[in-house]
Amino acid sequence: MHKLRHLLTPLDLSVPELDRLLSLAGEIASDPAAWQSACAGKKLATLFYEPSTRTRLSFEAAMLNLGGSVLGFSSAGSSSVSKGETVADTIRIVSCYADICAMRHPLEGAPWVASRFSRIPVVNAGDGGHQHPTQTLADLLTILRRLGRLDHLTVGFCGDLKYGRTVHSLIAALSRYEGNRFVCISPEELRLPAAQRAAAGDAVVETADLEAVLPQLDLLYMTRIQQERFTDPAEYQRLRGSYILTRKKLSAAKETMPVLHPLPRVDEIDPDVDDDPRAAYFEQAQNGVYARMALILTLLGLAPDPLDAKEEKEPLSLPGLHCGDPRCITGSAERPVPLFVRAADGSLRCWYCGRPVTE
Ligand code: NCD
Repeated sequence: MHKLRHLLTPLDLSVPELDRLLSLAGEIASDPAAWQSACAGKKLATLFYEPSTRTRLSFEAAMLNLGGSVLGFSSAGSSSVSKGETVADTIRIVSCYADICAMRHPLEGAPWVASRFSRIPVVNAGDGGHQHPTQTLADLLTILRRLGRLDHLTVGFCGDLKYGRTVHSLIAALSRYEGNRFVCISPEELRLPAAQRAAAGDAVVETADLEAVLPQLDLLYMTRIQQERFTDPAEYQRLRGSYILTRKKLSAAKETMPVLHPLPRVDEIDPDVDDDPRAAYFEQAQNGVYARMALILTLLGLAPDPLDAKEEKEPLSLPGLHCGDPRCITGSAERPVPLFVRAADGSLRCWYCGRPVTE
């Protein structure tokens, strides 16, 4: 029997599983039509509690390309959440209607809640400022197709590294490949959070100066300042426009250095960069469809290579302890059972949002 698996963070896939999935995505890219009936009769539910066009359409395109169908909602206002329904109840119901679901939610950890009550694979399509594993699949496929490898790379991440969930997921994924170094370029206020930094160990250097580090990078990952996550609008106004990549600045970079961006961009990449052969962001969006096709096939047990049998580690229930961070689903009216995990360094983390919790 095919075992139920979810994708909440890129770390839910082992490195060999990830490599097999990316190789399947590459095969799909070379002949998408060969897969046009692979998911005939299957249904994908897109549960989007937070606005998104690109990611939602990318999931829908992926399922339609596979011959399956899609259903769902595109804002919390058009779902029963406006009547007060919990994520736990919504996913119990959706499990009766669909074979797989993709969930985007403004609260960190919401897809973790869903995974505990779901009978179908749950894919995290972005939870608050936390994780965005399918963007990572698109990013990795783009890096692989451009540079031919995922190891021994000096990767520059530039912009909002604090709230940018795509950065958190991609650093976690790339940290598992040998010899990668991460140059984190951001204003002081938008640095990588401690939990994400710890995952990458000593491979991280931090700077505020893009131009100074540009020549050493094998790859540059630009990001948007995440306006919607700021509690203080004045701070956003002060930090917006911190980094703008122009053709002129790019002249100092390696000829082979792809520029990635999860999109949408605001002003952090000047449109005059779009014609440069290093601009890889539109092809990254195309790769996102192939990567999601490979993921859907894999989680439904329809891929040529099945996932490995995985030992699930039960999260810890510790009476009296509560994360309760207002950005975490545990701090909302949903009030899921508090659960924790112990990180490699022995510290305790909220199982839902990954934040350190003091015992
Ligand atoms: C990203 C996201 O939603 O986190 N976009 C995306 O998935 N296409 C990046 C962003 O919104 O800046």
